[in-house]
Amino acid sequence: MALERTLVIIKPDAVAKNFIGKILAQIEENGLYIIASKMIHLSKEDAEEFYCEHSKRPFYNSLVKYMSSGPIMVQIFEAENAIKTLRNIIGATKPIEAKEGTIRNLYANHEPVNGTYENAIHGSDSIQSAGREIDFFFTNSEINK
Ligand code: CMP
Repeated sequence: MALERTLVIIKPDAVAKNFIGKILAQIEENGLYIIASKMIHLSKEDAEEFYCEHSKRPFYNSLVKYMSSGPIMVQIFEAENAIKTLRNIIGATKPIEAKEGTIRNLYANHEPVNGTYENAIHGSDSIQSAGREIDFFFTNSEINK
């Protein structure tokens, strides 16, 4: 199986609750390696662009407000089968449906806030999304190959 890259965002709720270290450790313990990392604060315009595929959804405005509400930690993780492995570790989008022990089960807000799920973490859902998301956040020189 080929090496894959996936983009992880530790979202503003989890950063504010001081869960960065615990979340990164859980991912590393599952065999994924950080090859790029930074802390940033998205502007409203950045968040609108990153989530443009959801622009017609009822939760879009709350999602943009949430994701631009405070700093986030963004990482590229690399491993064989990284995308699927990470999705299993993070759990379901809707935190209340996330299996016990997954990151969203442990660290997310279980109730929606202002109409969006404050679900602690994002992980790319496909190779195509990972490519787009990595290019959105990182230049080539920021990635340790
Ligand atoms: P994520 O999958 O990382 O990226 C899109 C985000 O939109 C998702 O996490 C949630 O934070 C939010 N989201 C997705 N679907 C819904 C929904 N049905 N209701 C509210 N928020 C959602």
